[in-house]
Amino acid sequence: MKPNKQVAKIGATVTGADNMPEIREGQTVALLQELHILTRDGKMNQDSRRKLKQVYHLYQFIEPLLKEVLAEKESVSLVDHGAGKSYLGFIIYDLFFKALNDNSHIYGIETREELVARSQELAKQFNFPGMSFLPLSVAESTESKLLPDQIDVVTALHACNTATDDAIHFALKKKAKYMVLVPCCQAEVATVLKKNKAKSLAKSALTEIWRHPIHTREFGSQITNVLRCLQLEAHGYQVNVTELVGWEHSMKNELIIATYKNLPRQRPSERLQEVLETLGLEEMGNRFFTEQVAKQ
Ligand SMILES: C[S@@+](CC[C@H](N)C(=O)[O-])C[C@H]1O[C@@H](n2cnc3c(N)ncnc32)[C@H](O)[C@@H]1O
Repeated sequence: MKPNKQVAKIGATVTGADNMPEIREGQTVALLQELHILTRDGKMNQDSRRKLKQVYHLYQFIEPLLKEVLAEKESVSLVDHGAGKSYLGFIIYDLFFKALNDNSHIYGIETREELVARSQELAKQFNFPGMSFLPLSVAESTESKLLPDQIDVVTALHACNTATDDAIHFALKKKAKYMVLVPCCQAEVATVLKKNKAKSLAKSALTEIWRHPIHTREFGSQITNVLRCLQLEAHGYQVNVTELVGWEHSMKNELIIATYKNLPRQRPSERLQEVLETLGLEEMGNRFFTEQVAKQ
């Protein structure tokens, strides 16, 4: 998709070319203003520019996945976990779903009720019938009857702490074809590393990797994403890990894209167990559960 350069009038969609390369063809200018990405007089500040850049970069990965689903099915469903103000959901809807004339749907999951209420208002204001927002935690949404049994695409952009892990559990349960995850910092693994440090130090020189508190935090964060990738592979997904945007924009920029391919599960499941045991993280087995281990 080529960026469109025209500065559009308030309330209009962009159709031409001019001096605002960030705004794309067909985007609803008033929506961007309501999301505070554009000011009332159609300008953009540094913060909004950064946010928009992140969302566009992510959209560039998500759009082909939506098309893939629609090549096989009549409609596509997407759940965005830890939606916050739902920049991502609204921009995906405005750029892609708005033009579809089917039952395609975006669900935003967010615990903060005021953000959910605001997103519901905006979806009504812009007549986006294929958008719903639910005031639920990711874990609650996994059991909620308000969501369908199967979901095609699951996204989680900087969903806090273990919400990314819950989003993975949700996606596995809903048999999602695709997951697009940009994890936030996760403290749980670092806490267990810290708790078991003394025991691990006596056992292995490799514990030096996380002996100092700052290293415990950083290694905990890194190994969390490694375990997530192995868990996804152990469920038959192909996993690609890349960068969301340059370091200048965000410190939390690891992008994990998982595609269900029914790949062999045995080896990644064994590797996952081995990593957990090597690092003294056996008690995290439930967090990073796999089908193979569940069967034993
Ligand atoms: C850092 S913000 C990111 C918001 C949005 N995804 C974005 O990138 O602009 C994280 C959001 O996740 C929500 N959140 C945190 N834990 C959650 C959970 N377990 N279930 C649902 N939402 C959660 C927070 O309330 C917050 O709005």
